[in-house]
Amino acid sequence: IMARVKAEATAIIERHGGTVNQFVGDEVYALFGVPQARRDDPARAVRAALELHRAVDEVSAQVEARTRQRLTMHTGINTGPVLVRLSESHAGRYMLTGDTVNTGARLLGLAAPGEVVVGPETWGQVRDAFEGQAGEPVAVKGKERPLVPYRIAAERDAGEASARALVGRGEELRQLAALAQGCLEHRRGRAIVLRGDPGIGKSRLAAEFLAMARDLGFSCHRALVLDFGAETGRDAVRSLVQSLLGLSSGADAAARRDAVELARTQGLVSADHEVFLYDLADAAPPAPLRAIHAAMSVAARQRGAHETLGELVRNASRGKPLALLVEDIHWADAVTLERLAALAAAAAASPLLFVMTTRFEGDPMAGPWRSALRGVPTTGIDLGPLAPEDAAALAASLSEMPESVVRGCVERAEGNPLFLEQLLLNAEGAALEKLPGTIQALVLARMDRLEPAHRDALQAASILGQRYSLEALRHLVEDPAYDCAKLVEHYLVQPEGADYLFCHALIRDGARESLLKVRRKQLHARAAAWFEGRDAVLAAEHFDRADSPQAPGAYLRASEAEASQYRYDAALALAERGLTVASQRAERFALLAARARLLLEMGRAHDSIEANRAGLEAAESPTERAEALVGMAAGMRINDRFAEGLAALEQAQPLAEEAAESMLLSRLHHLRGNFYFPLGRIDECLREHRLALVH
Ligand SMILES: Nc1ncnc2c1ncn2[C@@H]1O[C@H](COP(=O)(O)OP(=O)(O)O)[C@@H](O)[C@H]1O
Ligand SMILES: [Mg+2]
Repeated sequence: IMARVKAEATAIIERHGGTVNQFVGDEVYALFGVPQARRDDPARAVRAALELHRAVDEVSAQVEARTRQRLTMHTGINTGPVLVRLSESHAGRYMLTGDTVNTGARLLGLAAPGEVVVGPETWGQVRDAFEGQAGEPVAVKGKERPLVPYRIAAERDAGEASARALVGRGEELRQLAALAQGCLEHRRGRAIVLRGDPGIGKSRLAAEFLAMARDLGFSCHRALVLDFGAETGRDAVRSLVQSLLGLSSGADAAARRDAVELARTQGLVSADHEVFLYDLADAAPPAPLRAIHAAMSVAARQRGAHETLGELVRNASRGKPLALLVEDIHWADAVTLERLAALAAAAAASPLLFVMTTRFEGDPMAGPWRSALRGVPTTGIDLGPLAPEDAAALAASLSEMPESVVRGCVERAEGNPLFLEQLLLNAEGAALEKLPGTIQALVLARMDRLEPAHRDALQAASILGQRYSLEALRHLVEDPAYDCAKLVEHYLVQPEGADYLFCHALIRDGARESLLKVRRKQLHARAAAWFEGRDAVLAAEHFDRADSPQAPGAYLRASEAEASQYRYDAALALAERGLTVASQRAERFALLAARARLLLEMGRAHDSIEANRAGLEAAESPTERAEALVGMAAGMRINDRFAEGLAALEQAQPLAEEAAESMLLSRLHHLRGNFYFPLGRIDECLREHRLALVH
């Protein structure tokens, strides 16, 4: 058996351009880039390892019955300089020495059966082409910094869809290829907007473009704007930043922090911008930086984030040109759109292609946002229906059905590839004239033919949003072992990093529409319970959709969580959403107070005063009334409404004293002092500030 494995190993390694240096016991020691280095040696090594693992699994399956033992393989791969001498003994062709070799052995030791573990240097060079995840850093003898191992999961597909060939779109691809070439030549890029109806093929074309760009030497990154269910810290811009920092989608808080630190030491962002990068990568900054961030105005934070985004992509594109893709910007909110514009702006002077996809409906380019891209060369490509011959070719590649059926589907789909796909998938079981006429209805028809467990799972997943995690789905379907293989097999969902993604937003819509309202609410309630303690924002949104009485409280907590990260726009939106569902007086008051505080932080003093005035009406206890009045006064202080503000404090003081709220009294006196100061009443100011200290 070992002889067979060794022969396989040699063949595979050599096929990928490597050499087997020696076999030691049951170990294979392979070299890539010796004697002749190639640009993609690390990727070749990883690819060879994955193939060899598969080969060993096959051999194992064949002999297991006889040997009653499983053969497993594990691999460590490291990249770096080595000292190479031709070997004079029999111990391999070359003698290798150096740190790189020792670390490689260490990585091998960290690989569990079946795992391919690579070092940071290797990972840096292959992460565009392979899915992988950082493991726990380990201490290495004689090294200052701990070693971060990366486990390779699989080779990346340039978009799942590319498993099936692209048809047509030749014109568009030529145009895109010319833009990529131009970008390489002039080391300047542009924004590219792909626009079209749902299902027309925007994502497919964008995936094809990224694959092409990768072949041309671009470093490619992609993110999605979701209409619902985006985890906190994983909005499109943050996902993109995380990807630019080399983080995989499941990277934990420690990995995110390390990545920011690394980016800083590599000079990807300047020291001034480090603090913003923490926020943009959703990483917790060290205390001193956090304090700096806290002391900034909202406008300064916004400006800082925009500058940091620009700097990051400018610097990142110095090494390798960048191709960034943000899908479905028709769902982007105002903050995201501003940040996208900041990213796109860098394209004007750097080798960066910034691709966005959008539907016509909700296309931000059709509104005032367009002027945010002023100064950035922009190419818009509107996708029409597939040409009839292309649609026919696509149909032929998808279906084995008789020609007449296929032709019928092609006519019916009118050049929309998604519709065509769904029609063909359904046609297997029904006559064409019986097939429903919308994608939604088609999805339903197909779901009906799934086994109940999988149908339930697809419906449950639709509750979580277009992207969902397996753990959350398992919780919803109350099956800790559920896996999505069947759904993937049916082209309903596709794996994306550590998560799954509905193959199309319309498929998710169809699945969700198929649920009875009552069931939908039950599932949202279960989802809310799952996200509580994990993600405050998602918990609130699910409680809301479950029509749960817990929704207002959850919105308040979510708003506070976002505010504590200085994401005031998001926090404000959550408080306002909470107010629309809050029926209990106490909750209304708390949400009004939160909204007023946020408005004041955001420099909207007038709105803050009015929010507190509404709070005063909802207030009941002396404490609440005093809080609302002090809040109003704080806004009036900003707007120089001295007399009114002092009057409000006058009214608040007995209430706060009655309630013996010392924090509130302290704030009250401090604020009153702040009114006196610009009025030149310095002694009174001092007295009030002293009183504030006493409390
Ligand atoms: N030119 C094409 N060739 C082959 N398949 C395509 C093509 N365009 C779209 N498709 C397929 O049609 C479906 C919908 O396309 P997609 O790109 O997701 O649409 P959009 O992003 O515009 O909503 C996908 O399954 C995709 O793979
Ligand atoms: Mg799409």
